[in-house]
Amino acid sequence: MSSADQFIQNKLQERQAAGNYRQLRPEAGLIDFCSNDYLGFAHSAILKANINAEIGAQAHVLNGAAGSRLLAGNTYYAEALEAEVASIHGYPAGLIYNSGYDANLGLLSALPQRGDTIITDELAHASIIDGARLSYANRYKFKHNDLNSLTELLKLAKGTVYVAIESIYSMDGDAAPLAEICAIVQKYNANLIVDEAHATGVFGLGLVHQLNLQKQVFAQVVTFGKALGCHGAAILGNGLLRNYLINFSRSFIYTTAAPMHNLAAIKMAYQLQERSGAEQLLLQQNIRYFKDIFQNPSFELIASDSAIQCILLKSNAKAKALAGLLQTNGYDVRPILSPTVAAGSERLRICIHSYNTGQEIAGMLNLINNFTT
Ligand SMILES: Cc1ncc(COP(=O)(O)O)c(C=O)c1O
Repeated sequence: MSSADQFIQNKLQERQAAGNYRQLRPEAGLIDFCSNDYLGFAHSAILKANINAEIGAQAHVLNGAAGSRLLAGNTYYAEALEAEVASIHGYPAGLIYNSGYDANLGLLSALPQRGDTIITDELAHASIIDGARLSYANRYKFKHNDLNSLTELLKLAKGTVYVAIESIYSMDGDAAPLAEICAIVQKYNANLIVDEAHATGVFGLGLVHQLNLQKQVFAQVVTFGKALGCHGAAILGNGLLRNYLINFSRSFIYTTAAPMHNLAAIKMAYQLQERSGAEQLLLQQNIRYFKDIFQNPSFELIASDSAIQCILLKSNAKAKALAGLLQTNGYDVRPILSPTVAAGSERLRICIHSYNTGQEIAGMLNLINNFTT
C-alpha cells in the first residue's frame, strides 16, 4: 500500500472507531424532516412549470454557460437578475455565485487584507470559516451570540474590521441578536457581513430585510438552495463591493458561470416567494406545533423559532440511536455528530417544512418523547 493510501485508510479507520464515519446515502422515500426545502419549492410543480416557461421564452439558451462570467459566461439575463435580486432585498447591487459556499469563501478570502481583522461567531458556517482562513487578515471568534465577547474583540481589532455572522445559525437554528450586533459594529466602525441562508424565505426575505437593517449591514449573503428550492447564492452590497468582487474574488472569477436553467430557476423562485405567504404561515404553525408537543425531560431542545429545531443528545451514539429509530419508523431525521458540532453537543437536527402534516410531526415526536437511553 502506498503511503498516501495508508494515510487515507488510517484516517477513515479513526472515523469509524469514533463512530462518525460519513457515508453518502441515496434517498429512501422517508418523511422529510431533513431537507432545507422549507417551503416545498424544490418539489413544486408550479415552480417547475414557471422555470420551463421562462426558459422557453428566451431566444438563445445554451445547455451550459460555456465559460466564466469574465470570459464567455456572462449574459444580460444574469446581470439583470443580479440587479433584481439586490433591489428585492433593498441593496444597490448583487453578484451571483455558484453556491453559498463559494459566496462566503469568495467574500471573506478577498476582502480583508493583511493587517485587517475578521471576527466571526464561533458557530459560523464552515464556508465563513474557510473563507476567513484563506485570508491573510487576523482572525478571532466571539462566543456564540455574546455581545460582550464581540465587544471585547472589537476593542482589540486592528485595521479594517469585518464581523461575519449568520442571521439564523445552521446547526442550532437560533437567531443572532441582529439589531444589537448592528449597533455595536457601527459603534466600533466595523463592517457587518450577514449570511441569511436559513432566514431567506423562512422569515420573509430574511431578517435583515424584515428588520430594515440594510444600511447597517455592509454585505449580505443570500442562498437560493434552501427555502428558495433551487441553487446558488448572491452577495448583496453596494456597487463598489460588486466591482471589487468581480476583480478579486477567486471563487467568482475562476469558475464556469451558472447555466441559464439555474438563473431562470432563481428568478422564478423569487416570483413564487412573493406569493408564498400561505406556505410561510403553514411553516410557522408547524414550528409552533413541534415546539408545543416536544416533551422529553431527558433532552434539551435548543431555543429556536426557525425551521431548524435541534434536540441535544450529547453523544454520537445516542444521536445515532434516536435517528436510527426514527428512520426505521419512516421519518428522515439525521444526527449531527462531532466533529461537525463540538463534542458533547451532538444532536438531532430536525428541519420543519410547510408541507409536513400535523400527523407526521406528532408521530415523530411520539417516538422522540418516549426515547430513553
Ligand atoms: C449558513 C450557511 N451558509 C452557507 C451555506 C452554503 O450554501 P450552499 O449550500 O448554497 O453552498 C450553508 C449551507 O449549508 C449554510 O448553512
